[in-house]
Amino acid sequence: MLDPRRDGQLRPSELIARLGLRSDAVVADIGAGPGYFTLPLAATVPDGRVIATDVEPRFLELAVARARARGLRNIVVQPAPRDRPGLEAGSIDLAFLCQVDQSLGDRAAYLRALVPSLRPGGRIALVNTVAHRAADLAAADAAALRVVDEWQPSPSFFLLLLTPRREAP
Ligand SMILES: C[S@@+](CC[C@H](N)C(=O)[O-])C[C@H]1O[C@@H](n2cnc3c(N)ncnc32)[C@H](O)[C@@H]1O
Repeated sequence: MLDPRRDGQLRPSELIARLGLRSDAVVADIGAGPGYFTLPLAATVPDGRVIATDVEPRFLELAVARARARGLRNIVVQPAPRDRPGLEAGSIDLAFLCQVDQSLGDRAAYLRALVPSLRPGGRIALVNTVAHRAADLAAADAAALRVVDEWQPSPSFFLLLLTPRREAP
């Protein structure tokens, strides 16, 4: 997950720039693993924070150690249940999931459960290999999400940026 060869395929700096995050944004890196994206996301939101979640606490420990070594203090870690995000309502500006959605079981149900954690104007970023694009688009539609941006960092990968079709009243 920390293989530097991923950089060429995922172009993390450009991908994160594409997210248009404010410096005070709160981002949930769901299925963060050892923090390949968590650390650069945290550097992008110096006045906000990144909540790194994962079902494997050992990966989160590694992410924390790597963040500490780089002097990043705006990362909090949260062990995640397997079947739901486990985030507080109205707590995040962006949910970021890279190569995780294939492990979520019912993708549409998971995305639906994620929506209440979004603040007004909040978005969900899905990054994965193109083989998952159709399933992700179908799940987004079933979860009443619309695509606000799409980008390919390389021919093998996509970024889908989603937002609720209707904001909660
Ligand atoms: C392929 S790795 C990707 C890690 C990281 N997002 C990245 O791009 O480097 C998938 C990660 O998702 C985690 N994971 C799997 N199922 C999950 C779930 N239901 N909720 C949260 N994390 C999950 C795994 O433990 C693993 O760390």
